[in-house]
Amino acid sequence: MTSKRDLADTPFQAPEHLLAIAPYVPGKPMTALERELGISDAVKLASNENPLGPSPAAVAAIEDHLGNLHRYPDGACHDLTQKLADKHQLAPEEVVLGNGSDEIIGLLAQTLLGPGDEAIIPSPSFLMYEIAVRSMGASPRFVPLKGLAIDLDQLAAAVGERTRMIFVCNPNNPTGTAISVSAMQAFLDQLPADVVVVVDEAYIEFASDPNCFNCLRDGRGDPRLVALRTFSKAYGLAGLRVGFGVMAMALNDLLHRIRPPFNVNSLAQVAAAAALADDVFLNRSVELVHTGLRQLRADLDNLGLAHHPTQANFFLIDVDRPADLLFQQLLQHGVIVRSMRAYGFDSSIRINVGLPEENARFISALKAVLAEA
Ligand SMILES: Cc1ncc(COP(=O)(O)O)c(C=O)c1O
Repeated sequence: MTSKRDLADTPFQAPEHLLAIAPYVPGKPMTALERELGISDAVKLASNENPLGPSPAAVAAIEDHLGNLHRYPDGACHDLTQKLADKHQLAPEEVVLGNGSDEIIGLLAQTLLGPGDEAIIPSPSFLMYEIAVRSMGASPRFVPLKGLAIDLDQLAAAVGERTRMIFVCNPNNPTGTAISVSAMQAFLDQLPADVVVVVDEAYIEFASDPNCFNCLRDGRGDPRLVALRTFSKAYGLAGLRVGFGVMAMALNDLLHRIRPPFNVNSLAQVAAAAALADDVFLNRSVELVHTGLRQLRADLDNLGLAHHPTQANFFLIDVDRPADLLFQQLLQHGVIVRSMRAYGFDSSIRINVGLPEENARFISALKAVLAEA
């Protein structure tokens, strides 16, 4: 990160609240590792992507649209918005599309926060919440997880005069825990009327527990709730960058005022619309994750490593040694995972479920590394 000293020679004063931000460090790209090791078959299980690739229907839609790239996208994302509204029985005026749900997180912070305001964030959770909050000069108030689960009672207890929003990641990244419908209702009952609760459901399609709260199904009619969804995970379109938020029309109207006019590119719009209709691909993606989780759990049990239940397409493994070291050692075997040290779990890694052969590569690399030790 650029330090204050690095900026001393520049003609402008670096804002203090921006210097407090640690830049987001994404999972290591496969191409980078392949370049470094001179290999062409790296396996990446570090960014919770869909190992099946994109939906074939999305690829076909992109091919059909290539001849229109000289035109600006539809700034209103009319067709995609309508299709989302139809699928989830929403008014189009409740939906806002973004360049990934990351962008919606930023737009919500821009809309709701100013200097002196507070946003409550469970910790650890998705790191972009803190960045979005700090970028507005507002203060994050962190509430530690209880075990691996979001502590809703402590989130409610942390609400103060200046609290404007609360982030709830469900299932939580990086721990994979989920919140039940009744727990969420009890939480909402404790909150004031003017605090916005952002429920980030990036992984909701993978949740197999029927009691898991689903904002678009169970959160109807509560104007404090914002649901965030993405096409990056179960829908396999991470590289295109499409996500959306669903919220009360009055809040939605404010986000539309400040979002860039063409924030979702035209290929992303047609691909997401096609992927939305491709239930066969979605179901295959979810099934692949559930089958892979069962196999990986059995393999880890055989290795005697502790791992945690999950409602997402990823889970934590306690590797009983420094996670950063194991991350580096697995890289040497061409396998990219995520060390959880930055999230406060010094001896844990997070992996997402890959294709069966990728999961097997991970397990055999892990065995080799543990044997070397
Ligand atoms: C919990 C959570 N929310 C949001 C995102 C961002 O997704 P998108 O690709 O839609 O920006 C991620 C990505 O990893 C995530 O884990």
